[in-house]
Amino acid sequence: MQVVILESPEAVAEYGAHIFIRHLQKKPQAVLGLATGSTPVALYQKLIQANQQGDISFQDVTTYNLDEYLGLAGDHPQSYRYFMNQQLFDHIDINKANTFVPPGSASNPILACDEYEQMIEQSGGIDIQLLGIGRNGHIGFNEPSSGLLSRTRVKTLTQATIDDNARFFSADEYQPHLSITMGIGTIQDSQQVVLLATGSGKADAIYRTVEGPMSASCPASALQMHQNAVIVIDEEAAAQLEHKEFYKHIERENQTLLAQLGY
Ligand code: PGA
Repeated sequence: MQVVILESPEAVAEYGAHIFIRHLQKKPQAVLGLATGSTPVALYQKLIQANQQGDISFQDVTTYNLDEYLGLAGDHPQSYRYFMNQQLFDHIDINKANTFVPPGSASNPILACDEYEQMIEQSGGIDIQLLGIGRNGHIGFNEPSSGLLSRTRVKTLTQATIDDNARFFSADEYQPHLSITMGIGTIQDSQQVVLLATGSGKADAIYRTVEGPMSASCPASALQMHQNAVIVIDEEAAAQLEHKEFYKHIERENQTLLAQLGY
């Protein structure tokens, strides 16, 4: 894992956005894996800006989102499809027919999960998967105890996740407790993973992800087995890492090498 520790949430968004921007400039037909939640919003704003300035185009890009609430249709304001339209798709030159979010209102969600896997495969697999992380270590809606080789499936949300996400729902609004999520195995199949985390609330989950044992109790720890996982975090989220100074040293060495090679 490459652990990049930066001064601020702003710097985290900037670093993450640059990975996507560089990739889109190299491969305009990229297949991107996208995420919802508060953390990716600043990164999406930077992608919108780069698109509007003409630095990148999404015309030939295909996207797959990690997860969706089961029981919410895409036009529901709390659905992740709605979130993606609002936060990114409505502001860039993407063909929305090439943007995919697991279908929360599928009549047969079990079949829909298999179809989602097949669609990703038919697109040639995901080049870069963006991830946030839950305070309990979840990625997508792969809650603790998720199989480390799991595929897209219906998943029950923990009470902790329901409570964390309650802020998005009004008091009298139905809040789903089931989801469709890419599995950990699905995420692991992407060529590169970029996980963003900021704030002290994520410090324990980041410690367990990076330095804890690989365990279904902290689903993100499966990324220790990924061939190209970049963990981009601010100082607060890095606070519990034992080898923090070493990760910073590695990153300085990386940057020096890349500069020498003209990247
Ligand atoms: P957050 O959510 O970015 O809103 O903290 C992350 C997640 O639950 O995956």
